[in-house]
Amino acid sequence: MPPEVDLSIRLTPTCTLSSPILIASGALGFADTIEGAVDLEGAGAFITPTLTVLSRQGNPMPRTVEVSAGLIHANGLPNPGLSAFLEVDLPRLLSLPCPLIVNIHGESREAWQALAGRLSAIQGIVGLELNLTATSLHSDGFRYGDVPNEAEALQYIAESLESVRAVTSLPLIAKLPNTGAEIGAASRAAVEAGADVIAVSQAFPAVAIRLSGSQFRLPGVVGGLSGPAVKPLSLYQVWRVAQSVSVPIIGTGGVMCGEDALEFLMAGATAVGVGTANFIHPNASSQILLEIRAWMERSGVREVAALAGLANRNG
Ligand SMILES: Cc1cc2nc3c(=O)[nH]c(=O)nc-3n(C[C@H](O)[C@H](O)[C@H](O)COP(=O)(O)O)c2cc1C
Repeated sequence: MPPEVDLSIRLTPTCTLSSPILIASGALGFADTIEGAVDLEGAGAFITPTLTVLSRQGNPMPRTVEVSAGLIHANGLPNPGLSAFLEVDLPRLLSLPCPLIVNIHGESREAWQALAGRLSAIQGIVGLELNLTATSLHSDGFRYGDVPNEAEALQYIAESLESVRAVTSLPLIAKLPNTGAEIGAASRAAVEAGADVIAVSQAFPAVAIRLSGSQFRLPGVVGGLSGPAVKPLSLYQVWRVAQSVSVPIIGTGGVMCGEDALEFLMAGATAVGVGTANFIHPNASSQILLEIRAWMERSGVREVAALAGLANRNG
């Protein structure tokens, strides 16, 4: 018999999860199309797509382009809005076999507070993830290609966190933007303003061109790149954030198998998000957890939590 391994992780003092593998925001929608089709037993938590106060239709089609080793997507944050979410989606999400984290984005201080205030009154939500890609610097909506300067970006991160922190005691996960501010500086701004956990990476700004027709492939030109193509960039961000702050990190970006997830843990992540892999293999999170368990048994590692930052300690 291989020794029993402990796969649980402590994200915050009040939030312990049974697995380090999380369903990344947007990977399985609001769980409205996966019933009976996806095994979530291996998931430590399910993170929703970004929720805004008012419903959003999202961008015109096509929204997704397949590129070498990845996807470029520009969904435009389609979501039902807070009221319909509470009424229609939340009961389904709370009945999933894993804890729920809601990803939110406020277009103003009032919007951040409306979302966080209302959601923190609900039993069963174990944390809020703030999508801090700075769309609210612009009044006319979500444009992936917009890049604020560093001072604007850091101020935006700090003000968003402070707004939410003022109205909730739920664990706050700051999902940092990839543009505007250096990722270490961004993580410090988030933690100083009240973030309990840092999440990297958001999808990276990217462009694809169709040669026939000499056109951009997405109607809005820029989308977010995810999948194996981004893994080394995301590993860099995890390492960099681990050098910059001492809160737990959720590392996400191109994780397709157990070995990928182990690399994120060793770079400094406490938990690992799985996004694009779900589009290829709907049971990716359970399979990845099985592979982590097998690796730990082979390697004589008893606690997955002991792996966080191992490469940093080994130099
Ligand atoms: C189709 C799709 C939709 C996404 N939707 C969101 C979203 O609503 N909010 C968000 O913060 N991130 C969103 N993401 C980003 C992922 O959560 C993740 O950070 C990114 O894709 C990198 O991980 P991956 O390479 O495992 O997909 C989305 C990603 C994909 C592929």
